[in-house]
Amino acid sequence: MNEELQKLFNRLIEIEHVSTTLYLAMSAYLGKKNFTGMASWLRLQSEEERTHLLKLIDYVVDKDGTVQLSAIPAQPSDFGTPLETFQRVLEHEQFVTNSYRQAYNYVIQADPQAAVIIQDFLREQIDEEAQTQTIVDRMTLAENNPSALLLIDQELGQRQAV
Ligand SMILES: [Fe+2]
Repeated sequence: MNEELQKLFNRLIEIEHVSTTLYLAMSAYLGKKNFTGMASWLRLQSEEERTHLLKLIDYVVDKDGTVQLSAIPAQPSDFGTPLETFQRVLEHEQFVTNSYRQAYNYVIQADPQAAVIIQDFLREQIDEEAQTQTIVDRMTLAENNPSALLLIDQELGQRQAV
C-alpha cells in the first residue's frame, strides 16, 4: 500500500472512530434523559460504526499498510433535544458520505481493489442517510408532543442488533 493510499485509509479510520464514539456519547446522553429506545438505537449504531472501523483496519493490515490511530476530539456531553441530537447524526452521516465520495474519486484511478472496498461503504451510506432522515422527519412531526416522541422512542428501541 503506497503512502497516499495509507493516508487516505487512516483518515477514513479516524472518521469511523469518531462516528462510533460520537454515537456512544449521544446514546449515554439520551439514556440519561430516559429516552431508552433512542439510547439503544444509538448504541447499536455505535456498534455498527465500530464494525466499519474494524473492516477498514483489516483492509490496511491485509495490504501490509500501517494503521495509525490518531487522537480523536472529546465528544460533547449535551446534544440538546432528541430532534437536535438526530439532526446532528444526519449531518455527521452526510459528512461521512462526502468523505467516502472524495476517497472513491481518488481510488477509482489509483487502486481498483481499494475502490471496491470504498464502494461498499458508499452504498451503505445510502441506507444510513435515509434511515436517519426518516427519524429526523418523524421527530419533526412529533415536536412539542411528548406522547408522539415517546412513541418514536419505543419504535427506535425495537431495533435489533445485526
Ligand atoms: Fe460508518
